[in-house]
Amino acid sequence: MSSQNRTNIPNSLNEHWMPFSDNKSFKKNPRLITDAKGVYLTNHEGKKMIDGSSGLFCNPLGHGRREITEAVTKQLDKLDYCQPFNQGFGGSFELATRIAKKTPGDLNKIFYTICGSTAVETAIKIAVAYHRAKGDGHRFKFVGRERGYHGMNIGATTVGGMINNVKAFASILMPGVQHIRHTHLPEHKFVKGQPETGADMAEDLERLATNFGGENIAACIVEPIAGSTGTLVPPKGYLKRLREICDKHGILLIFDEVITGWGRTGSAFGAQEFGVTPDIMTMAKATTNGVIPMGVVAVKDGIYDAVTDASSAPEGAPELFHGYTYSGIPAAVAAALAVQDIFDNEDIFKRAKEMSPYFQDGLHSLKDLDVVKGIRSYGMMGGIDIKMKDKPGKAGFQTFKHCYDAGVNFKSTGDTLIIAPQFICEKKHIDEIIEKLRTGISNYAKS
Ligand SMILES: Cc1ncc(COP(=O)(O)O)c(C=O)c1O
Repeated sequence: MSSQNRTNIPNSLNEHWMPFSDNKSFKKNPRLITDAKGVYLTNHEGKKMIDGSSGLFCNPLGHGRREITEAVTKQLDKLDYCQPFNQGFGGSFELATRIAKKTPGDLNKIFYTICGSTAVETAIKIAVAYHRAKGDGHRFKFVGRERGYHGMNIGATTVGGMINNVKAFASILMPGVQHIRHTHLPEHKFVKGQPETGADMAEDLERLATNFGGENIAACIVEPIAGSTGTLVPPKGYLKRLREICDKHGILLIFDEVITGWGRTGSAFGAQEFGVTPDIMTMAKATTNGVIPMGVVAVKDGIYDAVTDASSAPEGAPELFHGYTYSGIPAAVAAALAVQDIFDNEDIFKRAKEMSPYFQDGLHSLKDLDVVKGIRSYGMMGGIDIKMKDKPGKAGFQTFKHCYDAGVNFKSTGDTLIIAPQFICEKKHIDEIIEKLRTGISNYAKS
């Protein structure tokens, strides 16, 4: 490393325990990002890379949006914090109204959290609170799905289904959680859009309802498209069938739209895209274009009414004993309002929808590479499976590093490359992502 580049490395990398990272190898060979503008990132060696995954699915509007920076700065100058319990400020109400306009059906009540994990944890608690309010306190079981990812709090970890995330903490997980199978079937190796087969996997929920009593199940939580595991797209009819089974047994359906929300599928939410309305919906990431942490839970009016009406607490006592110091803080709200303006002014969801076929064609053009074992895609998200080498995860990470060197940045999970371009990408940017993926994957194959 040249002495000039070394100035971009902090004095010590030892103290920061990095999340979800191989700390030891990173610290020997760091990858620090120093600048981000539009679709490009620059690393500490001055190398420019295209962002192939919108950060972690969270910056679809591009990096360094002035409108967002200015809105946050203005807000901080005027009101930097106010407590969110039994107090508030106008912005969080304005934002709730704007979010509720974009959510489907009567998902009109908006609860703010800090991130995706806390949104999921909140959704779990609201489901429990709702059933208690209805006199159904015995409904405490939750159903998640294999290969699901819902974040890293205890509740979210438990309903998640990515094995490594779960097994290390098996001793402290939430009780009463069962999982239905994931929907990735052997015939789904190279599929663009929704697979034709696999809707019957939804019957797993009916089986659990039979085995454990549907009347004991509080909620079933799924991502409309499982994102972090590498874009597992729901088979045609699958989500609709889950909805029917939930309705039959009085089970709440929770869609975790932390990734699929805000245009990733080409509609505002996966719910609208797939024509299935859940009872509770979580979002985070793109809500603020990733610049300030914020999670959101959208809840049906009837659930809110049941919980608030059931409360017999004295005036001033909460109806729901739940909330965060940073629930809907002014800076996050200002960022989210600026994001809403951009969504509307630039017709962003339509733009994502129109670019999707071009992106997906590009992604599937990589099928001819020998080490590529499968490609799936929907909207502006896709997963590329790399053939396993020695141990799970090794091939994925090595391929990621070759792609990084080739000038495209993204995330790998296990042996899957997670690709999710920004919605502001033009065709030339998609071409660049695909070309650099081809170079990186080919260089990995040769290594
Ligand atoms: C579907 C889903 N839910 C929840 C989360 C957790 O979000 P956070 O990392 O903001 O806590 C994620 C993060 O990737 C996610 O993809």
